[in-house]
Amino acid sequence: MALIDQFGRHVDYVRISVTDRCDFRCVYCMAEEMTFLPKKSVLSLEEIERISKAFVDLGVTKIRLTGGEPLIRQNVLSLFQKLGALPGLKELVTTTNGSQLTTMAQDLRDAGLKRLNISLDSLNSDRFTQLTRFGKLEQVLSGIDAAKNASFDQIKLNSVIIKGRNDDEILDLVAFAKQKAIDICFIEEMPLGVITEHNRGESLCSSDEVRAIIEGQYQLIPDTYKTGGPTKYYKLAGSESRVGFISPHSHNFCGDCNRVRVTVEGRLLLCLGNEHSVDLKTPMRDGCSDQELQQIIIDAMKIKPKSHEFDVHDEPQILRFMNTTGG
Ligand code: GTP
Ligand code: 5AD
Ligand code: SF4
Repeated sequence: MALIDQFGRHVDYVRISVTDRCDFRCVYCMAEEMTFLPKKSVLSLEEIERISKAFVDLGVTKIRLTGGEPLIRQNVLSLFQKLGALPGLKELVTTTNGSQLTTMAQDLRDAGLKRLNISLDSLNSDRFTQLTRFGKLEQVLSGIDAAKNASFDQIKLNSVIIKGRNDDEILDLVAFAKQKAIDICFIEEMPLGVITEHNRGESLCSSDEVRAIIEGQYQLIPDTYKTGGPTKYYKLAGSESRVGFISPHSHNFCGDCNRVRVTVEGRLLLCLGNEHSVDLKTPMRDGCSDQELQQIIIDAMKIKPKSHEFDVHDEPQILRFMNTTGG
């Protein structure tokens, strides 16, 4: 059984948001004042496990648990352990802000995670706290070291580059990744939710601009390394690191899209940049069978849109923030 959409794209990657909560409030991800969802609206760990099994039975081979900050959900480790043992699931991964890794990195590795993505937008502690509003750089740097010690096959840093806020740190971030012998991926900011701290249109730093800055100092060699995500990788010459780019605005990758998301409220969201979705939580809570749940997922593929529309509109079209969505 395989999930194929109306454009012939094969969906084998699901990103599931396990919590809308986060101990940070990154300026591009959340508003400073956020109300979080009541517990009853949020999928239980058992419901997330059931949805995951349904997807794996439908041919999904990669699941990423996201948030919010996935590692602050109570008992989330038990979910990682259960999903890590699911036959048929080739990759269980997560994207974290790094705040909990000093205590959790080894447990995640032991649960079967082979790769880990960690957000890091600045190496200057004051600026780090400005960008994350509540984050402490030292805590995340210790978390990155804990992840290194846990021997993941790949650690990828994610840096969202914003003109006037952290575009002067691109080379420092590359040097840091090189020194730690880990990968780094630069991301173009996406317009989800209404933020007020900067103007997203004016501050957008395109991947080509970031790449030109890096190539002023380093040689980037195109690499065929693929993870099933949207990153285009280069080898950083003379190092063990790769540099990647995620360019939703400047190099649309929707034609190769292989993924869907499940929001923290159990909405199967067919595209990050559109609202096409199907409710999975209500039928599950109304007692649907596993077969019925699978059929809902199969039918949902018919409404997966061709592409996001981030650049088509002047005003923000997607009012939901990244934290409820699963990135
Ligand atoms: P790998 O498995 O390591 O390739 O991870 P990934 O890049 O799929 O996941 P990660 O959570 O590290 O995401 C990095 C960035 O890519 C985040 O900003 C995501 O929002 C963005 N991203 C991931 N998938 C999509 C997608 O389908 N569309 C868009 N527009 N952005 C995406
Ligand atoms: N645009 C691009 N990336 C974002 N992330 C969060 N919000 C945005 C946004 N508006 C990134 C985080 C994290 C990943 C899951 O998504 O930095 O690394
Ligand atoms: Fe939290 Fe990640 Fe959003 Fe930052 S980007 S506020 S760390 S969920």
